[in-house]
Amino acid sequence: MKNNNITILAIESSCDDTSAAVIQNGKVLSNKIANQSVHAQYGGVVPELASRMHDKNILPVVQAALETSGVDKSDLDGIAFTRGPGLLGSLIVGVNFAKSLALGLNIPLIEVNHMEAHVMAHFAEEPHPQFPFLCLTVSGGHTQIVLVTDYNKMSVLGTTIDDAAGEAFDKTGKILGLPYPAGPKIDKLAKEGKPIFEFAKPKVGEYDFSFSGLKTSILYFLQKQVKADPEFVNTHLNDICASVQSSIVNILIAKITLAASNLKINNIALAGGVSANSELRSAFTDLGIKQQWNTYIPAFEYCTDNAAMIGISGYYHYLNGNFSHQGVTPMPRMKI
Ligand code: KG4
Ligand code: ZN
Repeated sequence: MKNNNITILAIESSCDDTSAAVIQNGKVLSNKIANQSVHAQYGGVVPELASRMHDKNILPVVQAALETSGVDKSDLDGIAFTRGPGLLGSLIVGVNFAKSLALGLNIPLIEVNHMEAHVMAHFAEEPHPQFPFLCLTVSGGHTQIVLVTDYNKMSVLGTTIDDAAGEAFDKTGKILGLPYPAGPKIDKLAKEGKPIFEFAKPKVGEYDFSFSGLKTSILYFLQKQVKADPEFVNTHLNDICASVQSSIVNILIAKITLAASNLKINNIALAGGVSANSELRSAFTDLGIKQQWNTYIPAFEYCTDNAAMIGISGYYHYLNGNFSHQGVTPMPRMKI
């Protein structure tokens, strides 16, 4: 006989990480991730290679998630999956795997928006943020300030008009000759340097972001310096990284401060892969103390792309009876 637990298998394949997780009654039992190192040599994610790797990894990752959780397939109540946004070829692998498994097990399918899931990652562990809260979601593909009023209920207040914050790290890293993804490497090198160089500051609407001007400003600055001293990048790498990082962090911090003050909200959360950045984390935490905010940053494994956040979002959709039809297809440009 079936027990009273609500157990969900979640699948994430929107970009270059294949992930599967098992969530029971809103708690994470397992969260397995297969990263794809193949993209490092190309300076960015190669969509064709990403989908092929998902195809290779998805079955072992799902099996590992089930095994670690101790849950048998026959005890699953639903399959949650990332419908979008993301790369079409990558999404197709996860969506079709989820559809087939749900059909085979005769259980509901639950579509999840990847960006909503980054926000819902805050409910993977205690303490949960209080509603309403503002979430600054910063990843390789997105930069958003989101107003969250309930589980899976949110609206985007501001977004990037060009590159995402993670892209700003990665593209600058490429200019500096660092392997993809450059964010973690810039973070590490910045610890040994000082933010002594200044770059152009973006001018965009209230809660929106722009990072492409910063990237161009860095590129022109470096071209000028290298002309005078061909060894400039090598001899000043740590200071360049510290300067780039602090420019990006200052932009992010200024915008979330403005939104919190205008909306008079003091529950403020950080989400997405870039929230792993040590300067952003400490600036965010320090600001929270100064402004008397309640601040929330998920554990690292729930910040970067992972299926646990898909399962958490899926669990709350399940409670509301939000199920997908069997013919559901990927939505690469899905919006919140
Ligand atoms: O959320 P995520 O795993 O994937 C997307 O949905 O895009 O974010 C990946 C991004 C990459 O751009 C990566 O460079 C950045 O997060 N990132 C970092 C750090 N760790 C990951 N950026 C700055 N500092 C870090 N420590
Ligand atoms: Zn993501």
